[in-house]
Amino acid sequence: MPRKPLMAGNWKMNKTIAEAVVLSQDISNNFERDWLDAADVLVCPPYVDLKPVKTVFEFDKLDIAIGAQNVYWEESGAYTGEISIPMLSEIGCTYCIVGHSERRTLFGETNEDVNRKVDALTKAHINPIVCVGESTAVRESGKTREFVCAQVEAAFAGIEPEEARGSVVAYEPLWAIGTGRTATPEQAQEVCASIRATLADLFGADFADETRVLYGGSMNPGNVEMLLAQPDIDGGLVGGASLQATSFIQLVKACL
Ligand code: 13P
Repeated sequence: MPRKPLMAGNWKMNKTIAEAVVLSQDISNNFERDWLDAADVLVCPPYVDLKPVKTVFEFDKLDIAIGAQNVYWEESGAYTGEISIPMLSEIGCTYCIVGHSERRTLFGETNEDVNRKVDALTKAHINPIVCVGESTAVRESGKTREFVCAQVEAAFAGIEPEEARGSVVAYEPLWAIGTGRTATPEQAQEVCASIRATLADLFGADFADETRVLYGGSMNPGNVEMLLAQPDIDGGLVGGASLQATSFIQLVKACL
């Protein structure tokens, strides 16, 4: 069975509640429900916006999924500033981004942290979107595939295949994020194919075949078609272009 594409917007630290409601209404008003037969669509706003955004889509009976950008693996307790998986479940999050490069580089998130988050999320049936990607230095050293595949292996270490089912991997080269410098379709395809091969090694060919691998990094309406045309790219994880309804909707339509 072909993989259903997933177009996911990562709003990062953008949009107050009022702004988030306007953007989600704008998306909803310009959205045709039957697009969701051909593609899954997800938005990942900041925590405080999750409930208001969910409410907008529910009111319009539109099955756009919502997801968080991060989570902590403990259920509850003295972890000031953190948000738990039960909190996300209650709001109706079905996805959670894990190990985004901004969290790894700015907030010191390690492969071990990513693994604990993936483990806890999969046990709670929230699909992790595991972000992996190399820096310019790694790319220039010629070790991109090695580096990225090691990140994938670390993220899923010790996790059972039945639990991991539904997980998503997003390949986001650091040098392409927010820079306007997209990976070429060939560069992106090469790494996404290696990610799929790693998933096959870890969990078997069927798992790898059904698991979505996204590309992220300056994806926009001008380059989306070429990227999605690659056999191992099953959608996008989009920052900047997801902050406006018109561009996000163009990206969704490119999946149809
Ligand atoms: P941009 O689309 O703004 O480059 O961001 C990509 C990204 O980091 C999505 O998670």
